[in-house]
Amino acid sequence: MKQFPKNFLWGAATSAPQSEGAALIDGKSATTWDKWFEMEPERFNSNQGPQVTSDVYHQYKDEVKRMKAINMNSYRTSISWARLLPDGKNLNEKAVKFYRDYFTELKENGVEPIINLFHFDMPWWLMERGGWEVREAVEAFAFYAKTAFEQFGDIVKKWSTFNEPMVHIECGYLGDAHYPRKNDFKLAVQVGYHTLMAHTRAVEEFRKLAIKNGEIGIILNVSPAYARSESKEDVEAKECADSLYIFSFLDPVALGKFPEKLVSLLKENNLLPQMEERDKQLIAENTVDFLGMNYYQPFRVKAPVQTHTPAIRPNDFFSGYDMPGKRMNEYRGWEIYPEALYDVAMMMKNKYHNIPWYVSENGMGVAEEERFADENGEIQDDYRIDFMKEHLEQLHKGIQDGSNCFGYHTWTFADCWSWLNGYRNRYGFYRVDIENDCKRTIKKSGHWYKKLIEKNGF
Ligand code: BG6
Repeated sequence: MKQFPKNFLWGAATSAPQSEGAALIDGKSATTWDKWFEMEPERFNSNQGPQVTSDVYHQYKDEVKRMKAINMNSYRTSISWARLLPDGKNLNEKAVKFYRDYFTELKENGVEPIINLFHFDMPWWLMERGGWEVREAVEAFAFYAKTAFEQFGDIVKKWSTFNEPMVHIECGYLGDAHYPRKNDFKLAVQVGYHTLMAHTRAVEEFRKLAIKNGEIGIILNVSPAYARSESKEDVEAKECADSLYIFSFLDPVALGKFPEKLVSLLKENNLLPQMEERDKQLIAENTVDFLGMNYYQPFRVKAPVQTHTPAIRPNDFFSGYDMPGKRMNEYRGWEIYPEALYDVAMMMKNKYHNIPWYVSENGMGVAEEERFADENGEIQDDYRIDFMKEHLEQLHKGIQDGSNCFGYHTWTFADCWSWLNGYRNRYGFYRVDIENDCKRTIKKSGHWYKKLIEKNGF
């Protein structure tokens, strides 16, 4: 029996844009996703856009009942900036009422809300002004964060600022899976820097308000890099990848300073962002209380195949490595490597002074999951149960070895909208029938999770 610590948080995560729906009603203004879908619907799988998603805006009461039914004691979602402050300045009272009711419902049912502020959903009015490319966005975010803390700080005690900032940087400024789908390394670094400063200013506002029992963190995606070989070049590639993709946010938010390796890489390649005088001090003074780590898959790297001087893309520092024999999730295309979760646990302990942290996302996406339904329509997702068990074994080992992990959240509770992928990748304990008023049906993994929580282990 693998027993987890007392009061361990067992839950699941989602986000406002992927679950709420009600994209353009009750005063909410458009986000980049709403606009992008309007402009280029063909980019989205099966033309499924953000309007309805899983309809949590209307169905949250039943959703919370279902969480309670499977014993969950915590849940992460986010607030929609464009719903709370449609023009960035004026409060939308309907949004205040919705979120207060939703978060209260969670609390009253014994489900601790962990509330995030930004999950890739930039308001359109701000994107039109340059989004994270412009410094103005930092103060706009700080104002939004302060407003959210003031409105909901009496109910919500655990907050996070951003979900996976590296993803909106990489997909929006080094690729085309997020709007504004630009490809510019220097701009990507500036966008990352503004995001970090927005986080830092939000933490500063949080500290000023001194919310009783309140704690604040950030959710980062960690795909630890593993080098192809022990050669100097491959190891250097691993160090570059970790510095750019993991430590670039982890070090400043948790240790209050940038990693030296990152600074020298950026300097040597003329990629340093524009900074303001007070920034360094702000970063040093506003570290987080806890961290959320999203872990799905490792990053296999080798020495770069091609380089430019100065660098014009991250691949000038390392190349992806297609490791022979790696185990794959054949239904989603990502590698399965649970051992990395142990490595993350040890990294939290050793490099980050045993900071409190939790697994804020981990899960198995499956395309066309209806093929696994039994004669009663229940999805027999044994593959997902195995996936979670294997990851929890590694996490358990990390906790036994002293890592300060306080919870585990899967992605996700009920199938939700996966950005450009529409509803192709399903992750939930509940299947959502989007053709049929988003009716929910529990999957086999939902029964399994319920028992696991009951026993606080497996
Ligand atoms: C995480 C994000 O990176 O992965 C989620 O925080 C996302 O928003 C999840 O949905 C799963 O990825 P995908 O692309 O399969 O939906």
